[in-house]
Amino acid sequence: MNKALRKAVIAGNWKMNKTPSEATQLLNEIAPLVKDADCEVIACVPYVDIAAAVEATKGTNIKVGAENAHWEEKGAFTGEISTGMLKEIGVEYVVLGHSERRQYFGETDETVNKRTKAVLKAGLKPIVCVGELKWERECGITEEVVARQIKLDLYDVTAEELKNVIIAYEPVWAIGTGLTATDDQAEEVCAFIRATLAKLYSKEAADGVTIQYGGSMNDGNAAGLLSKENIDGGLIGGASLVAEKFAAIVAAASK
Ligand code: PGA
Repeated sequence: MNKALRKAVIAGNWKMNKTPSEATQLLNEIAPLVKDADCEVIACVPYVDIAAAVEATKGTNIKVGAENAHWEEKGAFTGEISTGMLKEIGVEYVVLGHSERRQYFGETDETVNKRTKAVLKAGLKPIVCVGELKWERECGITEEVVARQIKLDLYDVTAEELKNVIIAYEPVWAIGTGLTATDDQAEEVCAFIRATLAKLYSKEAADGVTIQYGGSMNDGNAAGLLSKENIDGGLIGGASLVAEKFAAIVAAASK
C-alpha cells in the first residue's frame, strides 16, 4: 500500500475559539466550499460547540471531532469529559496529546496512552499528536523524541486498533508561529514515524496509517506539504478558522 491508497484527512483544530453560534456560522460557510472534497474533512471543536457542530454538519461530508477526552468512563473527575459522552453526541474523532495540552496542562505520554486506548475502545478515532520542541530539534534529537512519543502513546494498541489511529506530526516550534517545517523537513519526520510504526507493527500496518502534518499549514503551503509521499493530510489550527483558507487546504488534499 502506498500514499495513493491512503485517504487524505484534513482536520481543523479550532482550539479555544468560537462560541456555539459562531461554530454554526463557520461550518455553514465551510460546508458548501468542501462538499466535493476527495478527502476526509473534520472539524475538531471545543466541547460546548459539539452539539451545534453536529447539527450544522448533518447531511454534509464534514465529520466532528473533540479536542480531548478522559480515559475513565465516568466518576469523580470534575471538569472532564468521557468518550461515552462524546460518542453519544455524535463525535467521531478526538485530538489527543496536542502540544498545548502537554505544555500547559500536564499531559504526559502515559496519559496520552490511556486516552488513546479509551478512545479506541469506545469506537472513536484518535488523532495522536507528536512533535519535537525547537530546542530538541537544535540538539539533533527530533527522531528520538518522536520515536519515544510514538512508542509510549501507542503502547498496548493492537495492529487492528492501529487502523483507526491517525498520527499528527506537529513540530512544536511550527505551531501558531507562522514558521512551517519545509516540505522536506516534514516529510523526513513523517517517513521516520512510518518506519517506527513498521518496526513496532509491520510494514503493511504502517503503510495503512494516515500521518498528518500540522504547524502553520495554510492555503499557501499545503499543496507542497501534501505532495510528499508520507504526508497524508493536515491538522490545521489558525487557518481552519477562515472558511476560504480551510477550503483551499481541503482542495489541495483532494488532488
Ligand atoms: P496552527 O496549529 O495551524 O495554528 O499552527 C496547528 C495545531 O496546533 O494543530
